[in-house]
Amino acid sequence: MKDLIEAALRARENAQAHFSHFKVGAALEDHAGRIHTGCNIENASYGLTICAERVAVFKAISEGALRFRRIVVAADTGVLTPPCGACRQILWEFCGDLEVILVNLERRAETFRMKDLFPRPFDVSSLH
Ligand code: THU
Repeated sequence: MKDLIEAALRARENAQAHFSHFKVGAALEDHAGRIHTGCNIENASYGLTICAERVAVFKAISEGALRFRRIVVAADTGVLTPPCGACRQILWEFCGDLEVILVNLERRAETFRMKDLFPRPFDVSSLH
């Protein structure tokens, strides 16, 4: 767990957050124990900004990872920063009932499960 937290904090340092100045890091652990990191990357058009969590998920999938255990989300906030709505949809669809650990720079952490952060989801089962 310590390694995953440190990986998220390190990834946060790579954030491109010139507009919000709000840096976020994520570290996603797959079933084989591999760690896939992400940071938020902002854009002058604002709307093309992508969050740290989605960068981590899409990097992992592009590297062939399919099943996941947990994700750490790191930000410099007193009230720990949870995934936004768009990220919850993506995390649910690609990672299922993942363990979600929120952490700040003081290493204070809180753990949640996706099923609690994202109740009554719309997902592939809704399409049948
Ligand atoms: N952000 C993330 O990367 N993850 C979150 O969980 C919350 C928000 C980013 C998006 C944007 O670059 C900045 O934080 C401010 O919203």
